[in-house]
Amino acid sequence: MGTIAKKLGLLFYVAIVGAILLLPASQVDAAAMKEKGKYVGSKTCAMCHLKQHNDWTVSGHPHKLRKAEVGKQLGLPLPEGWRWEELSYIIGGRNWKLRFVDKKGYIVTMTGPNKDKPGKNQFNLETGTWSDYHPGEKNKPYNCGRCHTTGYSKEGKQDGLPGMVGTWTEPGVGCEACHGPGGAHVSAGGKKELIKINKDKAMCGQCHIRGKADTIPASKGFIRHHEQYNEMLASKHKIFECTTCHAPHKHSSFKGAIKVECASCHAKQAADYAGSGMQLRGVKCQDCHMPEATKSAIKKAKFKGDVMTHLWRINLDPNAKMFVKKGKKTFANGYLTVEYACLTCHGEKDRKWAIETAKMGIHAYGKK
Ligand code: HEC
Ligand code: HEC
Ligand code: HEC
Ligand code: HEC
Ligand code: HEC
Ligand code: HEC
Ligand code: HEC
Ligand code: HEC
Repeated sequence: MGTIAKKLGLLFYVAIVGAILLLPASQVDAAAMKEKGKYVGSKTCAMCHLKQHNDWTVSGHPHKLRKAEVGKQLGLPLPEGWRWEELSYIIGGRNWKLRFVDKKGYIVTMTGPNKDKPGKNQFNLETGTWSDYHPGEKNKPYNCGRCHTTGYSKEGKQDGLPGMVGTWTEPGVGCEACHGPGGAHVSAGGKKELIKINKDKAMCGQCHIRGKADTIPASKGFIRHHEQYNEMLASKHKIFECTTCHAPHKHSSFKGAIKVECASCHAKQAADYAGSGMQLRGVKCQDCHMPEATKSAIKKAKFKGDVMTHLWRINLDPNAKMFVKKGKKTFANGYLTVEYACLTCHGEKDRKWAIETAKMGIHAYGKK
C-alpha cells in the first residue's frame, strides 16, 4: 500500500470513529459487530494509543519482517551478489541476525558475485559477520509467518509469491498479534469490551516456543533460540506470567522494561549479595542466573551464546549435566550448570572450583 493510500486509510478511520461517536449506543454496537474479526493494523491503534505505539515501535516485535525497501532505506547490509530490487522482504535484523527473502518469496541461500555459492546468507549483528543458513538449499519457502506476522492464516500465498506459505494482514508482530483483531473496538470508538487483553504466558508462548512445551531442544552445546516459554515452564517461575516481569510493549533491554527487579521478590539473596566482591564489581543476578546459554546468531565463547536463558536455577551437583541426548536429538535438562553460570567469566578456572566455591555460599562470598 502506498503512503497516500495509508493516509486515506487513517482519514477513513478518523471519519468512521467520528461518525460513530455521534450515533446512539445500540447502533454503535451493531456497526461495531460487523467489524468483528477484522484487522485494522497497528497504525490505526496509534491514533488513540500513542504511548503504547511509541514503546512498541522501538521494540523488536514490529521489525520482525519488513519490506526490502525498508532495509535499503536503513542501509542494512546486503548478501554478496544481491541488489535490494531483487529482494521482497528482510527477516529480523533488529536484535541478533538478518536474513533475506527473494522476489519469489523464497529465503536466499545462494550468494557470491554470480549467486552460485551456497551460504554466507545470514548477517550477524553482534560481529558484523556472515554465516551459513541452510546453505544452497533450493526453493526454501518462507514458512515462518505464524510467529513473524500479524493476522496470519496458513492458507494462500502472501503477495501471490510462490515461496510464501500463508498470508497476513501486517508484517511483523503488530498490536493485533497479541490483542486480536481490533476492527470492532475501533469502530465503536475504543470500547473496552471489544478488545482483548491476554496476559497468559501461553499467548507469548505461541511464538516464544520450539517443539513441545515440556522439552527444551538444544544443539551444539546451546539451547536453541525462541524457547523462553519452554524454559520458563521448567523453572519455579512457571507460577508467573511473562508479563509479571516484562512490560509487553517495551524492548527488554530498555529502562522500565523489566517491571520487577529480582530483589523485590528475593530479598534474602539480595541482602546477602549486597556488598559482596562480585556485587561491588557490577556482577548482576542475571549474569549468573540468566546467562547466554541460548544461541540465536553466534557463539560468543565456548559456553556463551547470545540469548539470555530463562531457567534461573543453577545446579551445583557434581554430576549435573546441562544437556542430555535422546536418540539423535539433544535437550537441556532444565537447569544451568556452572560452565554457563560461572566459567564464561572465570575462564581460567574449572568446574570443580566453581562448584566448591559456590557451595560455600556464593551470594555472600568474601563479605567481611
Ligand atoms: C515458533 C515461532 C517461530 C518460528 C516458526 C520462527 N521464528 Fe524466528 N524467531 C522467533 C522468536 C520468538 C524470535 C526472537 C526470540 C529468540 O530468538 O529467542 C525469533 C528470532 C528470529 C530472528 C532474529 C531476529 C532479529 O531481529 O535479530 C531471525 C532472523 C529469525 N527468527 C528467522 C526465522 C526464519 C527464517 C524462520 C522460518 C524458517 C523462523 N524464524 C521461524 C519465533 C519463530
Ligand atoms: C507482545 C504482545 C503485545 C503487543 C505486540 C502489544 N500489546 Fe498491548 N498489551 C499486551 C499485554 C500483555 C497487556 C497487558 C499488560 C499488563 O497489564 O501487564 C497490554 C496492554 C495494553 C493496553 C492497556 C494499557 C497498558 O498499557 O497496559 C493498551 C491500550 C494496549 N496494550 C495497546 C497496544 C497497542 C496500541 C499496541 C501496538 C502499538 C500493542 N498494545 C501491542 C500485549 C501486547
Ligand atoms: C478511536 C480511538 C481508539 C482506537 C483507534 C483504538 N483504541 Fe483502544 N482504546 C480506546 C479507548 C478510549 C480505550 C479505553 C476504554 C475505557 O477505558 O473504557 C481503549 C482501550 C484499549 C485497551 C484496554 C482494554 C482494557 O480492557 O482495559 C486495549 C488493549 C486497546 N485499547 C487496544 C487497542 C488496539 C490493539 C487498537 C488497534 C487495533 C486500538 N486499541 C485502537 C480507543 C481507541
Ligand atoms: C506473534 C508472535 C509473538 C508473540 C505473540 C510474542 N512475541 Fe515476543 N518476539 C517475537 C519475535 C518474532 C521476536 C523477535 C523480534 C526481533 O527482535 O526482530 C520477539 C522478540 C521479543 C523480545 C526481545 C526483543 C525485544 O523487543 O525486547 C521480548 C522481550 C519479547 N519478544 C517478549 C514477548 C512477550 C512478553 C510476549 C507476550 C506478552 C511476546 N513477546 C509475544 C514473536 C512474538
Ligand atoms: C514476582 C516475584 C519474582 C521475581 C521478580 C523473581 N523471582 Fe525468582 N522466584 C520467585 C518465586 C516465588 C520462586 C520459587 C520459590 C520457591 O519455591 O522456593 C523463585 C525461584 C527462583 C530461583 C530458584 C529456582 C529453583 O528452581 O530452585 C532462582 C534461582 C530465582 N528465583 C532467581 C531469580 C532471579 C535471578 C530473578 C531476577 C531476574 C528473579 N528470580 C525474579 C519469585 C520471583
Ligand atoms: C555469582 C553468581 C551469582 C549471582 C551474582 C547471584 N546468584 Fe543466586 N545463586 C547462585 C548459585 C550458584 C546458586 C545455587 C546455590 C546452591 O544451590 O547452593 C544460587 C541460588 C539462588 C537462589 C535459590 C535459593 C538459594 O538461595 O539457594 C535464588 C532465589 C537466587 N540465587 C537469587 C539471586 C538473586 C536475587 C541475585 C541478585 C541479588 C543472585 N541470586 C545473584 C549464583 C549467583
Ligand atoms: C522472572 C522474570 C522474567 C520472566 C517471568 C520472564 N522474563 Fe524474559 N527477561 C527477564 C529479564 C530480567 C531479561 C533481561 C533484560 C535485560 O537485562 O536485557 C529478559 C529478557 C528476555 C528476552 C531477551 C533475551 C535477550 O538475550 O535479549 C526475551 C526474548 C524474553 N525475555 C522473553 C520472555 C518471555 C516470552 C517470557 C515468558 C515465556 C519471559 N521472558 C519471562 C525476566 C523475565
Ligand atoms: C559476569 C561475570 C561473572 C560471573 C558470571 C561470575 N563471576 Fe565471579 N567474579 C567476577 C568478577 C569481575 C570478580 C572480581 C574480580 C576478581 O576478584 O578476580 C569475581 C570474583 C569471584 C570470586 C572471588 C570473590 C572475592 O570476593 O574474593 C569468586 C570465588 C567467584 N567470583 C566465583 C564465582 C562463581 C562460583 C560463579 C558462578 C556461580 C561466578 N563467580 C560467576 C565475575 C563473574
